[in-house]
Amino acid sequence: MKGIIVLLGLVVALAVGASAVRAGKPVVPAVFVLGDSTLDVGNNNHLPGKDVPRANVPFYGIDFPGGPMPTGRFSNGYNIADFIAKNLGFERSPLAYLVLKSRNYLIPSALTRGVSYASAGAGILDSTNAGNNIPLSKQLIYFASTKSEMEAAWGTHKVSTLLANSFFLLGFGSNDMFQTNPKTPADVAALYAALVSNYSAAITDLYGMGARKFGIINVGPVGCVPGVRVLNATGACNDALNRYAAGFAALVKSALADLAPKLPGFAYSLADSFAATQASFSNPQALGFVSSDSACCGTGRLGAEGGTLCKRNDTLCADRDAYVFWDSVHSTQRAAELGAQGLFDGPAELTTPINFKQLAYKRY
Ligand SMILES: *[C@@H]1O[C@H](CO)[C@@H](O)[C@H](O)[C@H]1NC(C)=O
Ligand SMILES: *[C@@H]1O[C@H](CO)[C@@H](O)[C@H](O)[C@H]1NC(C)=O
Ligand SMILES: *[C@@H]1O[C@H](CO)[C@@H](O)[C@H](O)[C@H]1NC(C)=O
Repeated sequence: MKGIIVLLGLVVALAVGASAVRAGKPVVPAVFVLGDSTLDVGNNNHLPGKDVPRANVPFYGIDFPGGPMPTGRFSNGYNIADFIAKNLGFERSPLAYLVLKSRNYLIPSALTRGVSYASAGAGILDSTNAGNNIPLSKQLIYFASTKSEMEAAWGTHKVSTLLANSFFLLGFGSNDMFQTNPKTPADVAALYAALVSNYSAAITDLYGMGARKFGIINVGPVGCVPGVRVLNATGACNDALNRYAAGFAALVKSALADLAPKLPGFAYSLADSFAATQASFSNPQALGFVSSDSACCGTGRLGAEGGTLCKRNDTLCADRDAYVFWDSVHSTQRAAELGAQGLFDGPAELTTPINFKQLAYKRY
């Protein structure tokens, strides 16, 4: 999987009636986002290094509201973090931490909307795409420093209430699946153990810093992205990679079920990305898609022969809303919108043990 450095967008769910809260009346005080390229809204644009994955050129952002404008989102428009934030009553995802720092606006944003630490290429393990992203461990450090500054401005009591009621959106693991590539059952077991223990430790750390509501997007069928399918002569999904990811997803699910009763007040909703993508892969037409295996922006077979990212030169599909995939790894804006609706308020099999909406409405 060399070359695939960024990650799968949670690809869509079942068609569900949107019951989104209207923008202007957020149901949580703020949203804090930690994750990979599926959630990145511009952090990587502010990271140095030629191998850092960035979505800062056309045709990224071609459908961005008020655009076209590449913003660092790995999408033709909004990504799933934007749509989850919209469902929570915000205009879109909170701004990227490094953008806020550069504009000297971190704390005003943290206190009223939240902050996004998500970074394309990031993994649960520091070793995943090392040096070219903000890994989970560093995202935690940035959050801890944000929290200290918030407390200096507002005092610990008010900040503790704000954080307990805020929505913590997490999405990690896909880059670790691509990068680790274990060969033997013993390697698989060792990697699963390291991944699950590090992820649980990170979630426990956030809890220790005052987070209570965790909306977590689990890994999905990473073997079905166009960039992986193109490696197979028939364009089939990589079943071994999907099994590896499904095994990890199941362990995350049981780790959270074990963790929850040990942490008083801890609440979570875990999104099953395998279930969420099932409908779009098995019957794309029912959701209004003409393609669920090819990149809208790309070249060659499945739009995936010209590298992972969409480039200025690439050919675009005729109808961007009719494609599940925007580039060879990430979902389109339309797929992200449907996916977010499913997690927020969709069929029960998409989220465990409650949905994102029920999580958001908890009060501390
Ligand atoms: C992850 O887990 C391994 C093994 O338990 C550990 O050595 C490493 O420091 C952990 N942390 C990160 C961030 O990779
Ligand atoms: C391509 O996919 C098919 C169907 O899953 C599988 O049988 C075949 O082994 C794959 N080929 C390669 C080279 O992986
Ligand atoms: C655009 O296409 C030309 C010809 O195929 C190629 O040489 C060039 O590197 C491409 N530019 C970019 C930015 O991809």
